[in-house]
Amino acid sequence: MRIQADSVRAKLKGVLAIALAVSIAGCGDVPQTIMDPAGDNARTTLDLFVPILWLSFAIFIGVEGFIVYSMIRFRYRKGNDGIPVQTHGNTKLELLWTAIPAVIVVILAVMTFRVIAVQAAEPAPDAVQVEVVGNQWWWEFYYPELGITTANELYLPVGRDAAFTLKSNDVIHSFWFPRISGKMDMVPGRTNKMRFRPEKTGEYDGQCTEFCGFAHAEMQMRLFVVEQEGFDAWVARQKASPSPSTQIATRGGELVRTRGCAACHAIAGTDVQGQIGPELTAFGLRTTIGAGLVENTDENLAAWIRNPEAVKPGVKMPALGLNDEEIAAVVSYLKELK
Ligand code: CUA
Repeated sequence: MRIQADSVRAKLKGVLAIALAVSIAGCGDVPQTIMDPAGDNARTTLDLFVPILWLSFAIFIGVEGFIVYSMIRFRYRKGNDGIPVQTHGNTKLELLWTAIPAVIVVILAVMTFRVIAVQAAEPAPDAVQVEVVGNQWWWEFYYPELGITTANELYLPVGRDAAFTLKSNDVIHSFWFPRISGKMDMVPGRTNKMRFRPEKTGEYDGQCTEFCGFAHAEMQMRLFVVEQEGFDAWVARQKASPSPSTQIATRGGELVRTRGCAACHAIAGTDVQGQIGPELTAFGLRTTIGAGLVENTDENLAAWIRNPEAVKPGVKMPALGLNDEEIAAVVSYLKELK
């Protein structure tokens, strides 16, 4: 008996150790967590989620408690083979277990409607306006008041409202920065509106959260929340690009214009004005390529241009058949756009 108890205890310890390891592993670097909000909508949503979670926990303990209590209290006992007293109906109990859930539902509804009302507020008058267009499989960001178009990486000033119009060019996508706000679908032929206010500076990962085809999982984006001065500096840099040293007359620029890039991509201030692919203005400022897929290094960019499909299966950009020397020239031209 003693040995058995020890081995059960050892097994239990093992299970606990594994459970602990798994939960600790889940606490590491989680860039897309809703539990660490950095925007007003994410914060008010979490403030709703946590009390509801505790309430559910209390209900769980109560219900399971009654079940366990009944199992022990009314279990089979040796020599007691009779049928228990049969009862039917108990008006008091029936009323009680109708009333309690009704009250709980009303409490949850009031809490939820209050948060919905707060999050449905109109954007502040000084909100940064951004038009977002979803594409298979990347994001276009257009700041109509600033005349800036960029892709996959969004800049916003901290503590100021951002007002979004959300559209799609092809299928349904969904716009989501988990640490900043809830999600909103982007539906072809419709314009959805959304607002949020980033509350902490930092880098935030976002993700398309509506299945939109082959590379849905690789449709990522990044939000940079910066102080107002940093935002103004970013705007100025976007507008100044391309700098004089990177005019289209360079070898790389010539290749971009004549070897296919210009059919899809646009670079402000040049005659490269394609309308299909991500804007390349100030491309050198981007931290990633392929919609958040890989870091924007020379090697990754060269691999991308050589064969985009190998980096991001399903991507619509074709390989352009450039040789290594040409790829290197295009890479250095693009990286200079900043
Ligand atoms: Cu776009 Cu999923």
